[in-house]
Amino acid sequence: MENNRRKFLKIVSHSLGGVLAAGIAAPLVGLGIHPWLKETVYGTEDFINLGKLEDFPIGIPKKMNVTSSKMDAWNVFEGLVMGSVWVLRKEDNSLSVFSVNCPHLGCGINWGEEEKQFLCPCHEGIFDINGKVVSGPAPRSLYSYETKIENDNVLVNYKKLI
Ligand code: FES
Repeated sequence: MENNRRKFLKIVSHSLGGVLAAGIAAPLVGLGIHPWLKETVYGTEDFINLGKLEDFPIGIPKKMNVTSSKMDAWNVFEGLVMGSVWVLRKEDNSLSVFSVNCPHLGCGINWGEEEKQFLCPCHEGIFDINGKVVSGPAPRSLYSYETKIENDNVLVNYKKLI
């Protein structure tokens, strides 16, 4: 009888010890593994808000910074500038959002208000207001990002171009 009682107490005590050890170990293991399982940069898969549609003039491209959030192992950094884009709002409120980088060798392009064209300062590349090559060495049109309007906000599916 005494022997059975001891066995029972031994089993109960070992079981409780196991449960307590698992309760302590699980969060520690999670804490150690967590940073490796987490995305290190987010915001690039979702559409990013560039501002209210009304803030974009019709027919004049406006350069905008694209900001998002970045997370390292334990910190979130809000409002990091990931890059820039040219946003063109058209008469019918449809949008074109272009990369600021020239498709030739990647120089930053500018909007020429007098010329009504995008101008690349590096090799005199010229693009029309729709991003198509007018002249110069660029092999293709300006890169155009997917965009949409939601609740009067201009959203862009921004990807960092390499
Ligand atoms: S980099 Fe723009 S034309 Fe060469």
